[in-house]
Amino acid sequence: MTAASQPLVQLQRPTHATDQSRRMSTRTISCTIDGTPISVREGTTIFDACRQMGTEIPTLCFLDTLHPVNVCRVCVVELEGARVLVPSCSRAVEEGMVVHTNSPRVQHSRKLVLEMLASSVDLSTTPNVAEWIAEYDAKPERFGPPAPPAPAGTRDASIAGHHAPPNPDFAATVAEPTKIDNDLYVRDYAKCILCYKCVEACGPDHQNTFAIAVAGRGFDAHISTEFAVPLPESACVYCGNCIAVCPTGALMAKTEFDKRAAGNWDESRMTATDTICPYCGVGCTLRLHVDEGEIVKATSPLENAITQGNLCIKGRFGWRFVQNTAAPAGSDVGNGRH
Ligand code: SF4
Ligand code: SF4
Ligand code: FES
Repeated sequence: MTAASQPLVQLQRPTHATDQSRRMSTRTISCTIDGTPISVREGTTIFDACRQMGTEIPTLCFLDTLHPVNVCRVCVVELEGARVLVPSCSRAVEEGMVVHTNSPRVQHSRKLVLEMLASSVDLSTTPNVAEWIAEYDAKPERFGPPAPPAPAGTRDASIAGHHAPPNPDFAATVAEPTKIDNDLYVRDYAKCILCYKCVEACGPDHQNTFAIAVAGRGFDAHISTEFAVPLPESACVYCGNCIAVCPTGALMAKTEFDKRAAGNWDESRMTATDTICPYCGVGCTLRLHVDEGEIVKATSPLENAITQGNLCIKGRFGWRFVQNTAAPAGSDVGNGRH
């Protein structure tokens, strides 16, 4: 089988604590978390129970608006009587559970997860992770200096079952050149932790376009369009809903990418103003991020009941006419014609 003909991996959707049937339950479940008794509604996850108590648990692949896929394992907690640590983001509270959120075993596990991630992925634009690395005393440098970026296309062309032997002089990385193949957003997979959030957002959780999925196996696994074609040749409709959920900045609006590259991205001087999208009757809430009088990005609040953070191409990218800037080549976006 050639790399180009590799099938993309579709997610097996696990049964999890926020399934609708459980979410509607009015039954109360009692458990103990870090020595404190708590009662929650049946179906509540350990993570949500902790949140109700004010106990913070680190997460990377979890988002309230997405189906949990349990892949990052940074949220694990210890459950008395359980053989293995459990992902708090998806494991439902059960009657009588005794949970420890920060035991030595939990700390050790989180430390190792962070070390493996930070040694192989560029986490420079992932919020909170530097603090977690310090908190758990993670030492990603113990795996050696990071391997240089793979030439463009190498990871896309990897063939399942044909792994290159590791080079003991370096820590293996997912570094590769940033994919810039359109005017709306870039894909910098050197920053990808393979959290599946973009796949979920593009697929069954929100957009149902299925333009991207995980291809490859093991360390070669990566996010890909069908047959690794450039975005403009893929099924992508440029809703940008994948950008909205990406926790690492691997997916980024081109406007933000360009300003960051120019050293001119400073969120402390930006304002965010909520307004209504002018394009259609749905009336999605747009959050306009403005830097010194210039719109630099449009998002929608995750907590908005209508959008849940999602937009279409017009809301996400079609604001350039406000500043009369040029529309992307070959696109009607930005000139108000949609
Ligand atoms: S922009 Fe929309 S359609 Fe394109 S990959 Fe992202 S979520 Fe999928
Ligand atoms: S591109 Fe972003 S959202 Fe998608 S898997 Fe990678 S880190 Fe997660
Ligand atoms: S946040 Fe729970 S497994 Fe990733």
